[in-house]
Amino acid sequence: MTGVGIDAIEIWTGKLKLDLPGTFAPEKGDDPAKYTKGLGLHASSFPDTYEDIVTMGANAAKRLMERKGLTPEDIGRIDVATESAFDNSKPVSTYIAGCLEQVFEGDFRHANKGERKFACVAGTQSIDDAYNWIRAGRNRGRAALVIATDTALYERGDPGEATQGAGAVAMLIDEDPSLVELSPEQGYGSMDETDFLKPNQQFPSVDGKRSVQVYLARMREALTDYESVAGKTHPEEYVFAPFHTPFPGMVRKAALLGYRHMIRDTEIEEALADEIGMQPREEECETEEEYLDAVREYTDALKGTEQYRAWYARTIDPTLDISREVGNWYTGSVHIARAAALKRALEDDMDIEGAKLLVGSYGSGAQAEIHHETVQEGWQEEIAALNIDEQNERRYDLSFAEYEKVHQVHNHDEDVEVEEFTVPEDEFAFDGWGRMGERKYRYVE
Ligand code: COA
Repeated sequence: MTGVGIDAIEIWTGKLKLDLPGTFAPEKGDDPAKYTKGLGLHASSFPDTYEDIVTMGANAAKRLMERKGLTPEDIGRIDVATESAFDNSKPVSTYIAGCLEQVFEGDFRHANKGERKFACVAGTQSIDDAYNWIRAGRNRGRAALVIATDTALYERGDPGEATQGAGAVAMLIDEDPSLVELSPEQGYGSMDETDFLKPNQQFPSVDGKRSVQVYLARMREALTDYESVAGKTHPEEYVFAPFHTPFPGMVRKAALLGYRHMIRDTEIEEALADEIGMQPREEECETEEEYLDAVREYTDALKGTEQYRAWYARTIDPTLDISREVGNWYTGSVHIARAAALKRALEDDMDIEGAKLLVGSYGSGAQAEIHHETVQEGWQEEIAALNIDEQNERRYDLSFAEYEKVHQVHNHDEDVEVEEFTVPEDEFAFDGWGRMGERKYRYVE
């Protein structure tokens, strides 16, 4: 059987922008460096008044279908991953299919539609579902449309307010893909955790500091589990390592621990021994505390080495290029990390066909998943078609007062009228409420 993977990708950002160091930090009384250096964020995207998870998802999917010359007949499955759903029964994929049927010939009556939930890892799980459906031979020659779409808003005043964002990623999963082929090998780290949840409420209850620790713990387990099926990882084996990016500072922490794990018992650990010693081994320490102290000391020293810095600059930093400008997109975050890395490779004229990516997804609650992907022959054409830089450039730059209004407009408990900041054009827009409380959408020429 030929490989299965991501054939095409399109990204749609919310059309408003909040400048974090310039606009948000001064109002909060924060040093702008907390955002640019600490969290690693420059801006967050927000949806305009007529945008939501449906419009952003449908707009990304429309771009993808048009570019690939697809009709609804070519698609046998539409899965939406989101943690921002507004209906406990009717899935967002039905709304998105309804939007697409307004502009494409034919319909999606034959297509299996659903919605996946497991916090931010759900986008990757939807890709898995599509992969399994195709590998099982149940797709009748059709491809799957996976859409990760979220408005990642936190309650006003919550520390998470610094890491908001809004946008959608549409991906076509198919045989013989043009972008990346997925590995059958996967690793998981999954455990019942209470780090971030939305118990029938729009804005999350978050224990931010704990969520950072849970991310690292589950990711470590997923890497070990992945190695149990794929063999030991080595940092030089992967051209890029896109990870779930709630904010780039989170990935900075994960990358250091991942690198430490991967270089253990390798020539890199040996080469660094003169400079920072060998990694502490648990069996050589008398107590667990002594071991953990020694690991912390080694990790701190490793962070400063030329080898680590060069690896980070090559393998991790390019994955953060888009996130830095748009913030957290929850289910879409790891997918914009992959896109960002491939985009940097294209800009730097790198020859990466056949190279491997190590992809780490994470969802609070909590589960991490790791697999690898192999870059395919058509990757350059696919990535060259992205227009995320232009979209980011075109966003309306909110003042703080405007940000406060936008937050209110998207708060399900508030009923406020706010003028739109941008004019919809060639895109889907929210068009009010129907008689059963459903949302309505129209395509604006
Ligand atoms: N210059 C440079 N760095 C600075 C700084 C300055 N002036 N001020 C603060 N920082 C650094 C901090 O040291 C910290 O980095 P570190 O964790 O490496 O030490 C970082 O900036 C964030 O500062 P902190 O004080 O921890 O921010 P916070 O209390 O506002 O909380 C989160 C940050 C991420 C916990 C919070 O935004 C949150 O809850 N986010 C939502 C949950 C989330 O995304 N979790 C991730 C797992 S999915």
